[in-house]
Amino acid sequence: MESNIKYHLCELDIASNKNDSRYCMPDICENEKNILDIGCGIGQFFISQKLTNKFNVGIDINLEALSYGIKRYKYINYVNADGVLLPFKSHSFDVVISRVSLPYTNIPKVISEIARVIKPNGRIWLSFHPLPMILKQFKFSIKDIIFRLYVILNGLYMHCFGRLIPFLYKNKYESFQTAYAINRILKANSFSRIEISKGKHFVVKAIYEASS
Ligand SMILES: C[S@@+](CC[C@H](N)C(=O)[O-])C[C@H]1O[C@@H](n2cnc3c(N)ncnc32)[C@H](O)[C@@H]1O
Repeated sequence: MESNIKYHLCELDIASNKNDSRYCMPDICENEKNILDIGCGIGQFFISQKLTNKFNVGIDINLEALSYGIKRYKYINYVNADGVLLPFKSHSFDVVISRVSLPYTNIPKVISEIARVIKPNGRIWLSFHPLPMILKQFKFSIKDIIFRLYVILNGLYMHCFGRLIPFLYKNKYESFQTAYAINRILKANSFSRIEISKGKHFVVKAIYEASS
């Protein structure tokens, strides 16, 4: 995955232009104050949506992206953390969003962390990678073919067993996602009113309905 400042700036341009065919962003309601973005990059979601009057928290494992954001966007609280271990108290956020970051994580663990930090009746908005997108990314190098095969097998594994395996010995994950797998993981973590749209973008919305 390309994860440098140029990539994030390009994504910020897309996120700032509703007329761009690649535009795909959640709306935030007036009463939703505490917002968490998992895999925030430089903060393109908060910046593009002009959420200057909210309590915005963006986490990412990429220090370069976080440093870029910290210097420029004072209304975003950047945290260097992995989605599998969110350094926040339980029931802290009204909304948790994640735009095409979960495909690079251990999704079942990240979703169980989201269920812990979100408030009862809190809302999630997550976007994912369907299989056709992964197939389009194939390049003709042995290294890439091996990695893409891992991504596909991992997606199939999660579809069948609800779990993912890391790439080789490293703590690196990637997979494609199916609506069935995500639906099952969300239900197991007390999410309901699950809406999955698999049109141009693979977006999942749900509500955390467990009582506190
Ligand atoms: C494709 S980029 C998406 C960035 C941004 N959400 C956007 O909308 O453009 C994926 C981001 O997820 C971050 N990421 C990958 N694995 C992560 C993990 N385990 N925990 C937190 N962030 C992660 C990457 O560093 C990168 O910034």
